[in-house]
Amino acid sequence: MKVILIGYMGSGKSSVGKILAGKLEIPFTDLDEEIEEEAGMSIPEIFAGKGAVYFRRLERELVAKRLAGPGSFVMAAGGGTPCYGNTMELIRETPEAVSVYLKTTVPVLSQRLFPEKEKRPLLAHLNSENELKEFIGIHLFERSGFYEQASLVVDASLNSPEEIAGTILRKLL
Ligand code: S3P
Repeated sequence: MKVILIGYMGSGKSSVGKILAGKLEIPFTDLDEEIEEEAGMSIPEIFAGKGAVYFRRLERELVAKRLAGPGSFVMAAGGGTPCYGNTMELIRETPEAVSVYLKTTVPVLSQRLFPEKEKRPLLAHLNSENELKEFIGIHLFERSGFYEQASLVVDASLNSPEEIAGTILRKLL
């Protein structure tokens, strides 16, 4: 089984993914970390030095390689992973892949992301929490059409990562 967690930045993909992988007793992988390792640079460095197109190409290549490769895993995708090229189609067409959308509200996301926006090149330029909230509202609306194509949609706004992982596990088994 290849479980791909998708959703906006700050929706909890990595923290839920680690717990879920532990419960399923399969490896956990973080796509952002795989990209950083492959490029030998941090995500902000990749965006600044190589550009967004390079980042998206690497992201697509690595996810395609993992989907085609052997073995089970839980993957925390990046927030934009399913929204570029044919990646969502690829995920949906991989028989052993199950995608899970961690659906989160705009106020919860902006509250979580404001203190750590510097780590996210797409958000670093936003100066106040209100500006961030407005940006996320539009961006999430644009991306929802991709996220909603997931095999499972889980409400990830209020519950703890442990509870969300438990909910996903019940739906998977
Ligand atoms: C991005 C999300 C980030 C990272 C990059 C771009 C996006 O991942 O891949 O900064 O386009 O939403 P997280 O969702 O893990 O923060």
